Amino acid sequence: MSTPVSVSLIVNGEPIDAFVLPRLNLADFLRENLKLTGTHVGCEHGVCGACTVLVDGAPVTSCLMPAQAAAGKAVTTVEGIGAAGLHPVQKAFMAHDALQCGFCTPGMVMSAAALLSAGMSAGNEIAPSVPSVVVTSTR
Ligand code: FES
Repeated sequence: MSTPVSVSLIVNGEPIDAFVLPRLNLADFLRENLKLTGTHVGCEHGVCGACTVLVDGAPVTSCLMPAQAAAGKAVTTVEGIGAAGLHPVQKAFMAHDALQCGFCTPGMVMSAAALLSAGMSAGNEIAPSVPSVVVTSTR
């Protein structure tokens, strides 16, 4: 039996202190503990990218990251990326009906926002390490 560990992190600008089981992944922590259900879980293997969030500004497949590994870090979910008004990526998705069924949309938005923050622009090659919702599903 595992013993819960204490974690302190920032989620969407809010300080969070919690106890988590060592095996709890960040996606489940966000969804179940914090009720931030915009982060979706698809494959649970780090392949589909549906669970992508930003950790200290970098895209992370949160199904693979233990929640306790986010201690001391700033996590941004799809609920937080547009907290001060829609993010330009969200506006572009709306303008171009880039929603598909909607299940993977949060991961796509987070991945695209991370690419923009990293200086990528339309026409650039995308590194294979970017979650597959961007490099495969949207081609
Ligand atoms: S659910 Fe995390 S990558 Fe698919």
